[in-house]
Amino acid sequence: MSTDPYGLRPGEVAVELPQEFDAGLYFIGRIRTPWTTREACPRNARESDAVCTIEVDARYAAALKEVETCSHLLVLYWMDKARRDLVLQAPRHYDTQRGTFALRSPVRLNPIATSVVRLVRVDGTRLSVVGLDCLDSTPLLDIKPYFASTDAVPAATVGWHAAGKT
Ligand SMILES: C[S@@+](CC[C@H](N)C(=O)[O-])C[C@H]1O[C@@H](n2cnc3c(N)ncnc32)[C@H](O)[C@@H]1O
Repeated sequence: MSTDPYGLRPGEVAVELPQEFDAGLYFIGRIRTPWTTREACPRNARESDAVCTIEVDARYAAALKEVETCSHLLVLYWMDKARRDLVLQAPRHYDTQRGTFALRSPVRLNPIATSVVRLVRVDGTRLSVVGLDCLDSTPLLDIKPYFASTDAVPAATVGWHAAGKT
């Protein structure tokens, strides 16, 4: 088996990707976290209480107007170290093959990650938040207010993740 953390594991399937991209995007800042290896990162946003810093580029400072009024934010970021061609994956901690769209793995056709974070403080273009799970210097894609009234679906389920299943 490959020693590359993003190498193929048994049961994983890659596809040939299109030769051209369909759209471009702007990295609007960087996320500062205490984690410098994939293994050291929390596996999800609720696994750590560490305060991380979202550094928004000064060019976009005006876009932060009234962000300080939000208790929670939806943060979108780009998993820049992840391979992008897997459609079936066997994540280390589950060891069962599943489709990429049934997983929160960073390995995706478009490696966009998302987390709901608690906003602790805003200092100019630096946002201190709790609830991130990414490597230090991960590119920032977007910030949106989290609306519990429309975003929360408390009854939602993921069948394969139910107790007893791997
Ligand atoms: C399972 S993903 C979940 C990401 C996000 N909360 C989501 O659900 O979309 C979190 C894992 O991605 C990996 N990771 C973190 N930052 C990364 C980066 N910049 N590039 C590639 N992989 C990264 C780490 O292994 C981390 O534990």
